[in-house]
Amino acid sequence: MSIVNRKVLTLDEFTIQQLRDFPHATGELSGLLRDIGLAAKRVNVEVNKAGLVDILGDANTVNVQGEDVKKLDVFANNQFTGVLQHGISCAGIASEELDEFVAFDDAVSKNSKYVCLFDPLDGSGNIDVNVSIGTIFSIYRRVTPLGTIATEEDFLQPGSKQVAAGYIVYGSSTMLVYATRRGVNGFTLDPSIGEFCLSHPDIKCPEWGKIYSVNHGNFFQYSKGVQLYIDACQKRTKDNGGPYTQRYIGSMVADVHRNLIKGGIFMYPGTFDKPKGKLRLLYESNPFAFIVEVAGGRATNGKERILDIIPTELHQRTPLFIGSKGMMDELDASLAQY
Ligand code: AHG
Ligand code: MN
Ligand code: MN
Repeated sequence: MSIVNRKVLTLDEFTIQQLRDFPHATGELSGLLRDIGLAAKRVNVEVNKAGLVDILGDANTVNVQGEDVKKLDVFANNQFTGVLQHGISCAGIASEELDEFVAFDDAVSKNSKYVCLFDPLDGSGNIDVNVSIGTIFSIYRRVTPLGTIATEEDFLQPGSKQVAAGYIVYGSSTMLVYATRRGVNGFTLDPSIGEFCLSHPDIKCPEWGKIYSVNHGNFFQYSKGVQLYIDACQKRTKDNGGPYTQRYIGSMVADVHRNLIKGGIFMYPGTFDKPKGKLRLLYESNPFAFIVEVAGGRATNGKERILDIIPTELHQRTPLFIGSKGMMDELDASLAQY
């Protein structure tokens, strides 16, 4: 027995340990996750100071070091882009904050096998009021040959091709959760050592939950099928698995994270004004659909599986219904009535 009885694995230790089962693995994915973890820690520091912005200076002003103070989502975008560009595992990135994808045009990056898409700061409208926000990321193996520069084809892959996906929630504690096909694992940032430590091994989404999450303010903008399902949620009693409870933070990362752990359903349906809803397919819906499916849940756009959608544009939107399998099946039954 080892003398050091270490029970807690850090993110690095965990990803490296995973490699032991794959003797031919190159460790590039571990490297990529380490890079993402590093950017997350830097963003976390700034998110934690967000409330001080009022006394330290606002966006578009100059901070004490004489640097421009950036909006937090721009800051987060720059951190993730920078760390991935300087790492050795990523051939290019796409981000909510950038109109076009960026292919890294240097010898090392051109020989890297992954591309990464992300929403650097999700729920950014909540920053000013000290409510949880997050980062979402999605990782694909590129389809273009190694040694060449990444192209749009590498980014416009269906979600079913994701190699890994994850998110960071900057909440009452900061957590990084990521999924590969082998499972979903959650790591909590231990601020005393500055490391993400495995706290939620092998996360499974309960088959049923009692939480439904939707923006009720849009109720009369939703289709009849969605309205019928929301009605059914409200009418649940203790005799049929209820009563349900409604929870909606307005940060998808925090809302879906809670439902993943506790069981529940999250919906961002299309409305009459915006039939495709608000959420982006490539760096919001796909990564969460991947994570939740690996954990045993489901995700659809109301008609088809999110992960089967063939993307046509980097920033395309999609309605999203995601969560516990039993609740998703019930939703389908309501939607099928119209
Ligand atoms: P972002 O801050 O990246 O633009 O995303 C915000 C999203 C998502 O996090 C959340 O679920 C949704 O917007 C909330 O929208 P509504 O206020 O329309 O409900
Ligand atoms: Mn977002
Ligand atoms: Mn965002």
